[in-house]
Amino acid sequence: MPQRKLGSTGIIIGEIGMGGMPLSVNGRPSEEDGIRTVHAALEQGITLFDTADSYCLNSTEVGHNERLLAKALHDRPEAIIATKGGHIRPEGRWETDGRPEYLRQACEDSLRALGVEAITLYQFHRPDPKVPFAESVGAVADLQREGKIVHAGLSNVSVAQLEEARGILTVASVQNRMNVFDQSSMDVLKRCEEHGIAFLPYSPLNGMGNAGGIGSNETLSRIAGRHGASPQQIAIAWLLQLSPVVLPIPGASKAANIVNCAGAANLKLSAEDVAELNGIAAQITA
Ligand SMILES: NC(=O)c1ccc[n+]([C@@H]2O[C@H](COP(=O)([O-])OP(=O)(O)OC[C@H]3O[C@@H](n4cnc5c(N)ncnc54)[C@H](OP(=O)(O)O)[C@@H]3O)[C@@H](O)[C@H]2O)c1
Repeated sequence: MPQRKLGSTGIIIGEIGMGGMPLSVNGRPSEEDGIRTVHAALEQGITLFDTADSYCLNSTEVGHNERLLAKALHDRPEAIIATKGGHIRPEGRWETDGRPEYLRQACEDSLRALGVEAITLYQFHRPDPKVPFAESVGAVADLQREGKIVHAGLSNVSVAQLEEARGILTVASVQNRMNVFDQSSMDVLKRCEEHGIAFLPYSPLNGMGNAGGIGSNETLSRIAGRHGASPQQIAIAWLLQLSPVVLPIPGASKAANIVNCAGAANLKLSAEDVAELNGIAAQITA
């Protein structure tokens, strides 16, 4: 697989990563099958694995996905596990906690779950409306100064929040939702490109539960036909062609699905393909 820089970190990784969420939330596979999927990704040259402490069923098993990835990748030094903190899962709900004292505890728990002394990329998962953003980011900066994290990233942020955070720490990556159907973070991507910050589009296939059906979009299906590719591969190839700072992280629980996604790295979309794909989001919101 071709490789890309992870922003300005100096880390070189396969240009398509993998999201670990489907391995640990509702509908997840057995641990054995999950590990098989992770190994299938590695065989394709995927070396970035995205996780979060909150990828689990509920608060009784926080760190489920981190432990699973750590187990699958413990003897693969080329693999980078990027995790996040800032979401909690009381009774399975998704809530935010961006208090500095909570983020410190979450990071220390993630260090234990991953079995490492420092987390290569730690991302603040989502701004918490109950806590000033600068206080949450300041906590991440403290963790970095203490050597608990190597690089710091953000997720679910606006351009204004990205700029505010840049005044507090060096932002290595931003992870926002982005796919052909949802192009609302294009301004954030552009700002990342200007600053050499990696942009990790999440839900690149429109999210769990929607991904299998994206071929029902006529434009995606027609372009897939033109290339002899799957619509999912076209959706990922479009993201890759947006900018050299983009590193898509499709989620998968099935090995065949992540292998199919990896094939997107070999596709070259024409200017006409890209123009048509750019238009999909506007058609939906029109
Ligand atoms: N920062 C955030 O707030 C945030 C939010 C959501 C997600 N994320 C991250 O982003 C990652 C990806 O997002 P996502 O999981 O929400 O959505 P997604 O990547 O758009 O879709 C995931 C689903 O796509 C299916 N799939 C994968 N490859 C396929 C293929 N080639 N053909 C058909 N179906 C395919 C998988 O099905 P199977 O499971 O059946 O293989 C999986 O359930 C997550 O895993 C997580 O790491 C971050």
